[in-house]
Amino acid sequence: MPAEYEKEHINDRFTLYHAGGNDNGSVFAEDVIKGLKAKPKTISPKYFYDDKGSELFEKICITPEYYVTRTEASILKEHSAEIAAANSGKNLVVELGSGSSIKTRYILNAFIKNGLPVTYVPIDVSEILIQSGNMLLNDFEGLYVNGIIGEYEQALEIVSEVFPHSKLYVFLGSSIGNFDLPHAEEFLKKISASMNAGDTLLIGFDLVKDEGILNAAYNDEEGVTAEFNLNLIKRINREFNTGIDVNNFEHTAFFNPAKSRIEMHLISKCDQSFSLNGSGEISFKKNETIHTENSYKFTDEMIKELALASGLSITNSWKDKNNYFELCLMTR
Ligand SMILES: C[S@@+](CC[C@H](N)C(=O)[O-])C[C@H]1O[C@@H](n2cnc3c(N)ncnc32)[C@H](O)[C@@H]1O
Repeated sequence: MPAEYEKEHINDRFTLYHAGGNDNGSVFAEDVIKGLKAKPKTISPKYFYDDKGSELFEKICITPEYYVTRTEASILKEHSAEIAAANSGKNLVVELGSGSSIKTRYILNAFIKNGLPVTYVPIDVSEILIQSGNMLLNDFEGLYVNGIIGEYEQALEIVSEVFPHSKLYVFLGSSIGNFDLPHAEEFLKKISASMNAGDTLLIGFDLVKDEGILNAAYNDEEGVTAEFNLNLIKRINREFNTGIDVNNFEHTAFFNPAKSRIEMHLISKCDQSFSLNGSGEISFKKNETIHTENSYKFTDEMIKELALASGLSITNSWKDKNNYFELCLMTR
């Protein structure tokens, strides 16, 4: 079946594809109601990223405690020429969950230095992509942006159909860690299935490290991560037109060593109940939580096993000097 999308011409160097087929508002409503009626209660982390959530995520990236972004950026800064050399002849970069695309600039710069015009395909559920696409076009001559607003899976179908040429896929920020391990494998298999011979995947993994450093990264002193987590309740209020008291919830995040992951939850500070779109009563006991995100932390063994199980082989990998983060280049 052909991929469903609407194409929007922004200017000669910027085209937007809106992945279609779903009414995003009603999908959000259905998913939230289902998640809050489940036991334990969960909401997918993809729902963090409305405009406010995307803005807050960018603030998290520059908190002193959140080592993830600056560490990955330092690896990219040091090795982007090697990454481009390992992909010589390609002029197509497709990025999953591109956000502000700030770190990707190192890669785009190195590709552009090879002399060919470069097409960049950022994929994101958030419209932050429009702003970041425009900024890139201002800063890079010889760049064309074909952004896809939509979910990873739908976007991958569009990519296979519209951009079949040889490409580098990029998946940064250890966003792979937001999937439970079986789903991470399933997702990498999907990426692998959409890769042609010679295509590569550059993927970032946050590594297991001292628990104090991990816990601090998701509990910054300024409270930006707490605000990011609590923004989910505000989003529910905005999208359902409800008046749930945000002060009745509290942010918590902690490393769970048995599962090798940071878990982020919203804790209900009291017994409370409300209804969403006449969905019936959704009730919370005091201290009951909504599980809002997992962020798996990887060992080299876990990365190798995941790649192998997904039918991918690691051709290069780079770490920072503290061994906090690893970038891997993979092929089918
Ligand atoms: C953790 S942020 C990482 C952003 C950027 N890649 C970085 O490394 O800083 C995750 C990004 O993926 C996007 N995202 C999350 N779930 C998504 C999904 N299912 N489909 C498409 N984009 C998604 C979010 O909007 C957000 O911009």
